[in-house]
Amino acid sequence: MTGAATTYKQQHSEAQTDPGRFWLERAAAADWTRSPTIGVDQSRSPFNRWFPDGELNACHNALDRHVAAGRGEQAAILYDSPVTGSKRQISYAELTDEVARFAGALASFGVDKGDRVVIYMPMVPEAIVAMLACARLGAVHSVVFGGFAAKELAVRVDDSQPAVIVSASCGIEPNRTVAYKPLLDEALELATHRVATCIILQRDALQAELLDGRDHAWQSVMSTASAAPCVPVASTDPLYVLYTSGTTGQPKGVVRDTGGTVVSLDWTMSALYDAEPGDVYWAASDIGWVVGHSYIVYAPLLNGCTSVLYEGKPVGTPDAGAFWRVIEEYKVKILFTAPTACRAIKKEDPTGSLAGNYNLSSLKSLFLAGERCDPDTLDWAGATLGVPVIDHWWQTETGWAIAANPLGIEALPVKSGSPSVAMPGYDVQVLDTNGQPVTAGDIGSIVVKLPLPPGTFTTLWNAEERYVSAYFSRFDGYYETGDAGYIDSDGYIYVMARTDDVINVAGHRLSTGAMEEVLAAHPDVAECAVMGAADQLKGQLPVGLVILNAGVDRPHDEIRDELIARVRKEIGPVAAFKSVAVVERLPKTRSGKILRGTLRAIADQKEWNMPATIEDPSVLDEVTEKLQAIGYAGGK
Ligand code: COA
Ligand code: AMP
Repeated sequence: MTGAATTYKQQHSEAQTDPGRFWLERAAAADWTRSPTIGVDQSRSPFNRWFPDGELNACHNALDRHVAAGRGEQAAILYDSPVTGSKRQISYAELTDEVARFAGALASFGVDKGDRVVIYMPMVPEAIVAMLACARLGAVHSVVFGGFAAKELAVRVDDSQPAVIVSASCGIEPNRTVAYKPLLDEALELATHRVATCIILQRDALQAELLDGRDHAWQSVMSTASAAPCVPVASTDPLYVLYTSGTTGQPKGVVRDTGGTVVSLDWTMSALYDAEPGDVYWAASDIGWVVGHSYIVYAPLLNGCTSVLYEGKPVGTPDAGAFWRVIEEYKVKILFTAPTACRAIKKEDPTGSLAGNYNLSSLKSLFLAGERCDPDTLDWAGATLGVPVIDHWWQTETGWAIAANPLGIEALPVKSGSPSVAMPGYDVQVLDTNGQPVTAGDIGSIVVKLPLPPGTFTTLWNAEERYVSAYFSRFDGYYETGDAGYIDSDGYIYVMARTDDVINVAGHRLSTGAMEEVLAAHPDVAECAVMGAADQLKGQLPVGLVILNAGVDRPHDEIRDELIARVRKEIGPVAAFKSVAVVERLPKTRSGKILRGTLRAIADQKEWNMPATIEDPSVLDEVTEKLQAIGYAGGK
C-alpha cells in the first residue's frame, strides 16, 4: 500500500476525492495475474466496475500465495464443534491441498468458470473447502443458510441454476439433529431447475441415503480427486451470489465481484479490525450469512490470519462461558459477533462472572454488528471483557462495514448507540423524503453517494432492473440503504430502524413480506400482517395478525398452530415465528394500507400518535386487546 494518509479523516477524504486512485493503491496488496491500471469504471453507474482491466483468482489470494510465502504450516482454520465434541486444526498447506482436490472433483462433474454451485451445509470445514474450491475454478458459489427450509432452498436453486449442489447429511442444533438430505431432496422436487450432481458430506451423527447416479458422498469423491489449479478470472467476474431477504418472498441474489472483494476485505482486516497476518480472528456467525462469507472465510484468509470456525452457540454448548473458553483455547485476538449473542450470555450470566474462569488476555477487541446495539449490551460486554467494544454497521449488500470505528487507522472516541463514522470509501448522507440533505441530528433515509466502494454488490443475480429499482431509483446518484437514522455534528452515524419490511431476528435478516405470503396462502386466511416486535433477547420477533375468511368456524388455536407450522416449514425454524392472533379487522389508512408502524408501536408499548389517515380508529382497541392476549402491548 502506498497511501501516505494516516488519520481517519485523511483516508476518508482521499477515498472520496479520488476513489479510483485510493483503491488502486490498496489493490497493490493483492496478487494479480494481470495488474489493474484502472480503479473504477463508472460509465454504467450504478453498475460500477472495480479494477476492470485486472485479472486474479480469489482462492490463490486466500491460500496459495500464503503457502508460497512460507505460511504453509500456520493454522488457517481452527474448527471447534462443541455440538459434536470435535476439534480440528487445518494448516494453510492442508487447506490448499484439500481445496485444490475438491476443485478437481467439482471440475470432474463439469463445473467450469462461471457455473454456479449451491452450498447448503452446516458449520463444518468442508463448507469452507467447497466455497474456496468454487473460487479456485472461477465458479460462483451460492451458500444457503442451514436454518432455511426446503422451499427457500428451492427458490434459490431455481434462481441461481447450479450445476452442482454440495450438502451434508445433517446439521446439529443443541436440541436436535437436523437431517439436511430430506430437505435437499424436497427442495429439488419443488425446484424446476434440474441438478445433475449432489455431493453429500456424510457426518457421523447421521448417514444420508444417496440417490444412485445423482448423489455422491464427499468422502468417496475426494478419495479419487486430483488437484485443480487456480483459474484466473476478470476482477469484475462474480465470486459469489448470496441471497438476502427483501420486501417480498423472492429473495435478492446479491452478487459480489472478485477483485473488489479481495482488495476491500483484505484492507479491512488491517484498517478496521487492526489484525495482522498470523493473528487469530473469530467471527462467531454462520457461513450462510454475509458475516460468515466475509469474516469467517475470505477476509481472515486473504490477510493470512487464522480463522476460528465454531459449530455451537453462545449458550447451552455447554454453558454461557463457551465463547470465553474458545478465546482462551485459541488465543483469539479479535472477536466479532452479534449483540444478540451477548444478550444471550448476559441472560444466563448477568454479572459476566464466567469470563473470570478463563484467561482472556489475548483478546484485544470485540466487534458487534447485525442489528442495532443497545447501550446496555455494549456496556456489559465492555465491563465483562475489559476491551474496546466496537459497534459497526453493515449489510449483506455492502459485504463490509459502512460505518465503524477503524481501529487499525485510528481509534476514535466511542459514542454509545452509534456505530461511529463512515468508513473510507463510503460517503454517507441523510436525506429527507424529497431527497434533500437534512441538518445534523435530524432523522431521514440513510444513503451512500455513488460510487459504492469495492467489495459492495455489483448487481442482483438475474435481476439488473431490480438492482436499480430497489436501491438506486428513489434518490438519484445514491444507494438507498433501507435504514433510517441521523448523523450528529461530529459525523457519527445513528442507525435507528429499517424503512422497509425487513426485520432482524437474533441478528438474522428476515422479510415480514415473505411471512405474510405464507400466512395468506392458508385456506382460512383472508388478510394478514406480520411485523417485528421488540424482544429483549433476539432484538425483534415476528408477530402475525390474521383475519379469517367469512364462515370459518374452526378453533382459532388450531389455525394458529397450523400457521406457525407453515412458516417453520416454508421459511424455516430461523424465522422464529411463534406469535399470531386472529383479529376481526386490521388498522388501515383510507387508501387501504395497513398501518404497520402503529401496530408495531402498540405491540412494543411505545408512544404513538393517531395517524391522520386512519380509516377507523376503533380498530386499534380491538387489535391492542388481541396483542395483549399473546404477550405483547403490555400483555403477559
Ligand atoms: N440449521 C438448522 N436450524 C437452525 C440453524 C441451522 N443452521 N440455525 C438456527 N436454527 C434453528 C434453531 O435450532 C432454532 O430452532 P427451534 O425453534 O427449534 O429452537 C431456530 O432456528 C432459531 O434459531 P436461533 O435464531 O439461532 O435461536 P436460538 O434460540 O437457537 O439461539 C441465540 C439464540 C441468540 C443464541 C442465537 O441466535 C445466536 O447465537 N445468535 C448469534 C447471532 C448470529 O450468529 N448472527 C449472524 C449475523 S452476525
Ligand atoms: P444483513 O444484511 O443481514 O447484514 O442486515 C443488514 C441490516 O441489519 C442493516 O440494514 C441494519 O438494519 C441492521 N444492522 C446491521 N448492523 C447494524 C448496526 N451495527 N446497527 C444498527 N443496525 C444494524
